[in-house]
Amino acid sequence: MQLDDLYREVIMDHYTHPRNKGMISPEALTVELKNPTCGDEITLQLLVEDDRVKDVRFEGTGCSISMASASMMSEAVKGKSVAEAKQISEEFRKLMKGQEADPDLLGDLESLGGVSRFPARIKCATLAWNALDRTTEQAL
Ligand code: FES
Repeated sequence: MQLDDLYREVIMDHYTHPRNKGMISPEALTVELKNPTCGDEITLQLLVEDDRVKDVRFEGTGCSISMASASMMSEAVKGKSVAEAKQISEEFRKLMKGQEADPDLLGDLESLGGVSRFPARIKCATLAWNALDRTTEQAL
């Protein structure tokens, strides 16, 4: 199997079986964001306790790239400290610029690396991450 096919499978798996879907509670940090170019949207909730992302959940509508990215992001940051979550976000943004990024921090997210070649889709892949950055800002 080609690496591109494997990556496509990982993306489709997260899209069809999203991890951490749903809402935590009205008290959790909440950010709603819309992708202005297509109208797709995400609501992200973060439960931070003792500087750690104890729980993370999302709901939204969007293309396979945006929803798969949200699912992978939720897995990547769950259980991490807020500082680590921010670092993972920075690594993901490097990946989107086609720059070298730390594979240990990214895990499944590496499958989205090909998106960097399609500027129009970068907004799809970063929608959930823009929401994450806003929630981690609130956590400080
Ligand atoms: Fe709307 Fe991808 S087309 S987020």
